[in-house]
Amino acid sequence: MSLQIYLDGKLLPKEEAKISVFDHGLLYGDGVFEGIRVYSKKVFLMQEHIDRLYESALAIRLEIPLSKDEMIKAVNETVAANKIEDGYVRLVITRGAGSLGLDIRRTSNPQVIIIADNISLYDPQLYEDGLKIITAATIRNHPAALSSRVKSLNYLNNIMAKIEGTDAGCLEALMLNHKGEVAECTGDNIFIIKDGVVKTPSIDAGILEGITRNAVIKLAEQSGITVEQIPFTRHDIFIADECFLTGSAAEVIPVVELDGRKIGDGKPGPITKELNEKFKKLTRE
Ligand SMILES: Cc1ncc(COP(=O)(O)O)c(C=O)c1O
Repeated sequence: MSLQIYLDGKLLPKEEAKISVFDHGLLYGDGVFEGIRVYSKKVFLMQEHIDRLYESALAIRLEIPLSKDEMIKAVNETVAANKIEDGYVRLVITRGAGSLGLDIRRTSNPQVIIIADNISLYDPQLYEDGLKIITAATIRNHPAALSSRVKSLNYLNNIMAKIEGTDAGCLEALMLNHKGEVAECTGDNIFIIKDGVVKTPSIDAGILEGITRNAVIKLAEQSGITVEQIPFTRHDIFIADECFLTGSAAEVIPVVELDGRKIGDGKPGPITKELNEKFKKLTRE
């Protein structure tokens, strides 16, 4: 059976799920999205993702044509229709079709697109061995230009940095902010551990407020581990004992090298492993 896509209130086979070439989501990257995991048929941290989606939409003055409850129902229906056990949901809201111009008043019918599919991001071995990453020359968007908290359809800032990463043979790349501090990776938040303290950039470093990030902070605090949300630099990563990334797609993945410097002993560390196990347990609750 063909993948069933939710579009404009209906479930359609993927071959029939089409939108206008005049949609401003395509013409200008004008829209918002979410990437959400499904574990054991259950949409993980659904409410948090839906809340962030509506906040992103509010920030760009995009009115989503469904209530939050209707959206949750539509996501659940799409997951069930595709018989997803463990998979991934891509929820996209576009500005809708309009004339060739930026004026949002000349657009109509924002499109709600829900794709529920399987996912495999990284080779499972990388969760054992850890990632090697580089720092991209491309800095994260200045938050005064466009807040990184908006999960918008325009990901070129991150794509530019990702190209630098893949050119260097790395699957992720670190992005700094306009002050030269560590912000996040192209599609993941970053954490370091030094002397037993977990550190991650705060939201005002100009990052996406990751839902996995928030879940991991909570798990660490519940385990009595101190978590500091503070500014830090590449140097702090070089001299850290451990480092890991979080994201809905990546989950919790260790980082063992940055820009040719081994982090700690160059192997995933004990606190990373502990938090990874706790996170895995949370996804099965
Ligand atoms: C730029 C960026 N940072 C961080 C994240 C991680 O966020 P979350 O844990 O909500 O998936 C993502 C993933 O969507 C992202 O695109």
